[in-house]
Amino acid sequence: MVIGMPTEILEREHRVAALPEEVAAYVQMGFEVVVESGAGTGSLHSDEEYRDAGARILAGAEEVYSAADIILKVKQPHFNATLGKHEADLIREGAILITFLHPAAPSNHDIVRKLRDRGVISLTMDGIPRISRAQSMDALSSMSTVTGYKSVIMATAALPRFVPMIGTAIGATKPAEFLFIGTGVVGLQAIATAKRLGAVVKAVDIRQAAREEAASLGAKVVGFEAPEEYAVGEGGYAGTLPPEWLERERTALAPLVAEADVIITSALIPGEVSPVLITPDMVASMRAGSVIVDVAVDQGGNCEITVPAEETVAYGVTIMGYINIPGSVPVHASWLYGKNMLEFVKNLFKNGIETPDWDDEIVKHTLVTHDRRIVHAGALHAMGDRA
Ligand code: NAI
Repeated sequence: MVIGMPTEILEREHRVAALPEEVAAYVQMGFEVVVESGAGTGSLHSDEEYRDAGARILAGAEEVYSAADIILKVKQPHFNATLGKHEADLIREGAILITFLHPAAPSNHDIVRKLRDRGVISLTMDGIPRISRAQSMDALSSMSTVTGYKSVIMATAALPRFVPMIGTAIGATKPAEFLFIGTGVVGLQAIATAKRLGAVVKAVDIRQAAREEAASLGAKVVGFEAPEEYAVGEGGYAGTLPPEWLERERTALAPLVAEADVIITSALIPGEVSPVLITPDMVASMRAGSVIVDVAVDQGGNCEITVPAEETVAYGVTIMGYINIPGSVPVHASWLYGKNMLEFVKNLFKNGIETPDWDDEIVKHTLVTHDRRIVHAGALHAMGDRA
């Protein structure tokens, strides 16, 4: 069985699906590994290191795709402009693809259909359930950890003032105030980072458990509490607030938004469009030079005027809608992702490298296309009769 790892082709995507240490582990398991030359460059690992770990280096993507039974990637297949071919068309019929596919997102439906039609067995790393046995495979949480950290660093770099209180001969500066809306994995890591920088930290979340965690990191929990029956949904995740409760939340947030120097929003209800919590009027109430990082942009964003994939300025406020924040911390993002992927592959092939376990609970959650059918519930739901 040959594992193949092509270079990621998306702009500004510097991550890679396995570092040399994971390649060595795959070889140890009995796989042959082929790596496209330069695949590790963005994460600062040379072909030489991959070769030393036991991989065969191939010159181009086409060679890797045609040699591999299993393709390991970070991002969903895209059109490769250099080759003039779509990555989904390069994968061998019947081969296995493991990557982030986000199969429910409408922009990926054509890719999912293409994978089905070509008989590719695809598994998505964003489908790993948050159960204890799968914790070491939880790539979404890993990437959210990276995002929480980097979002605070990005905001700080754009802020025209100090973050901590700094004492000088002519007096002390006022520390910057950071407001975190949504304190799940992204929010908590962001709070920890902002505390280390000396910010005044305030946090809002609709779930009691999330508020308690934010408080335990030193955030002042503020704003708003929704009734438990709405706030907590399936599996302990956030529930959908009815429109009148969302309106109450926006009213409660308005004075907090006006006071904040930095807002990091990551409010998310799994499988849904993210709630709009910051309106244009609220942005206009902020001091010029303030910064909003709308991390939830992939699901539509928490700020009404965020432009996806862009940094814009509205009413003097910088609004960041970057969509691939983990890709900007490639060394540690790849270190985490590579380890999550290795644990996932070990679990998939726990009965031997020739016999994938399609009945395993974690594997079943991640399967998108199998036996020339789309089997992913979220994708089927989103595609309706266009599946
Ligand atoms: P999570 O599920 O751990 O946390 C989301 C939090 O939002 C939960 O604590 C939930 O209770 C809270 N929430 C839901 N509705 C709310 C409301 N109305 N008001 C206040 N809080 C509310 O999710 P995680 O892992 O922290 O991810 C958050 C977002 O970050 C997602 O949208 C994800 O796609 C995005 N993300 C974006 C990246 C990027 O590069 N832009 C990279 C990684 C994650």
